[in-house]
Amino acid sequence: MLNWYQTEKRLTISGNKEEQNMLNGKKVLFSGMQATGNLTLGNYLGALKNWVTLSDEYECFYSVVDMHSITVRQDPATLRKRARALYTLYIAAGLDPEKNCIYYQSHVSGHAELMWILNCFTYMGELNRMTQFKDKAAKHADNINAGLFTYPVLMAADILLYQTDVVPVGIDQMQHLEITRDIAERFNNIYGDVFTIPEAFVGKVGAKIMSLQDPEKKMSKSDENPNASIYLMDDPDTIVRKVKRAVTDSEGVILYRDEQPGVKNLLNIYCACSGKTPEDAVKEFGGRGYGDLKTAVAEEVVSVLKPLQGRVAQLEKEKSYLDSMIKNNAEKAQYFANKTLRKVQKKVGFPERPR
Ligand code: TYM
Repeated sequence: MLNWYQTEKRLTISGNKEEQNMLNGKKVLFSGMQATGNLTLGNYLGALKNWVTLSDEYECFYSVVDMHSITVRQDPATLRKRARALYTLYIAAGLDPEKNCIYYQSHVSGHAELMWILNCFTYMGELNRMTQFKDKAAKHADNINAGLFTYPVLMAADILLYQTDVVPVGIDQMQHLEITRDIAERFNNIYGDVFTIPEAFVGKVGAKIMSLQDPEKKMSKSDENPNASIYLMDDPDTIVRKVKRAVTDSEGVILYRDEQPGVKNLLNIYCACSGKTPEDAVKEFGGRGYGDLKTAVAEEVVSVLKPLQGRVAQLEKEKSYLDSMIKNNAEKAQYFANKTLRKVQKKVGFPERPR
């Protein structure tokens, strides 16, 4: 198999001023996911599903962000296994690794190198305001390490390294996107137009899937109650059982409104899986009970997750294919990361590397 840089369709960064950010005539998309815990339906509907939809339109970099994962203590063998499973999942979800650059963050040294530089352009006060830091520090009070604190700077490095235009994420990552933009603008104000200022892409209905047990809380892979989340690898019976147990309310009407967070969440899941709008869903369930809604939600979720699980099982057998994609794409990512990194290093005054 040819390496990416040996193929004819070698990617180029356009020299044209207006198109400076374009790779291969397309704008750049970056996103990533942590290989920690069991991925939930929230991760799929809030992020992965949109990645697939956008992948033709953009030149895409999708990272398994294993460096972020160690801000919380991990068992090494489990982390390695989960990172591989996540890599497989990206492809199983429909991302072609020959068209999209899918790689492990830890394989591209540019992330850590740029992060160090960006650390020097980020204020303690800004990082102190990050709600995810506050939540995680409260949860891991015995391990409030510097990595947990500077986590958003690594995220900024991930994004800015590829001159990213768009970052598809769930709503919970918006604050990190904002600090990324602030850091980039600060750097650009000092050194000229070095970084592209990225925009977030947030889907209409799946951007914040809530816990099935407490619809005021986000569905999260670290939730201790397994009934609160639908995991991507849950079998159909488990999915049906979890949806049936989902907390609703005593109103007895199916409307899409904040006063009914449990019902609204079920409608969001239903719409994100089926592609219907909340208005259509409300019409469809008008006059019907919560039992009907739950049955329909479970059916839609199973119809999305079952084929995904089948593709994961199939891909897991294709070890050498996955290995070659992992290697090729890490080289490709490093190549583009270095382009930005060398520029940044020069701007801040590091001596040129002897050739
Ligand atoms: P992570 O691994 O927590 O989540 C991955 C993606 O899933 C989205 N998500 C949700 N969307 C809707 N409803 C939910 N309940 C839900 N839970 C999670 C997240 O918004 C995210 O898009 N820091 C990031 C990973 C990261 C990253 C990046 C993302 C590292 N570098 C650069 C974008 C760009 C994180 O921990 O996501």
